[in-house]
Amino acid sequence: MKRYVTLAVLLTIFVYSIAEARIKVAGRGAKMNFSSEGIPEMYKPSFNLMLVKCVKCHTMERTVIAIQTGRAPITGQPFNKQAVKAYGIKMLRKPNSDMNKKEIRDVVVLLNYFLDENAK
Ligand code: HEC
Repeated sequence: MKRYVTLAVLLTIFVYSIAEARIKVAGRGAKMNFSSEGIPEMYKPSFNLMLVKCVKCHTMERTVIAIQTGRAPITGQPFNKQAVKAYGIKMLRKPNSDMNKKEIRDVVVLLNYFLDENAK
């Protein structure tokens, strides 16, 4: 029983910390996504690109959680600017990523912006 209470408390704190995070998020679970609200004009093209390209193999939830928690959800590695760059290169090498160097760079710049915003 005690275990469940602890779990419930941890879960509440986790959900609350997500709700408090700086970047705006819309939806939950598999439908979770970054909100386009408040995104500067200059990032809009990259944002739209990401919405199309980065959901080919998995949902956006993975990326949102990585930004919000500062941890990559699958590997548990820190998700900072260095990791974003490394991940971009990793993506580029994936056989079906269907993204070119410029597209990857644009998304990396956008994710760095999200990291900055979330740290404020
Ligand atoms: C070709 C398929 C594919 C595409 C396209 C893709 N991903 Fe992934 N992604 C994966 C796979 C597979 C994993 C599981 C871990 C790995 O292989 O790195 C993953 C894992 C992740 C993770 C968690 C990494 C970790 O270490 O926990 C994040 C964040 C992520 N992807 C973001 C993105 C973003 C942002 C884009 C768009 C630039 C993207 N993905 C496009 C296949 C893809």
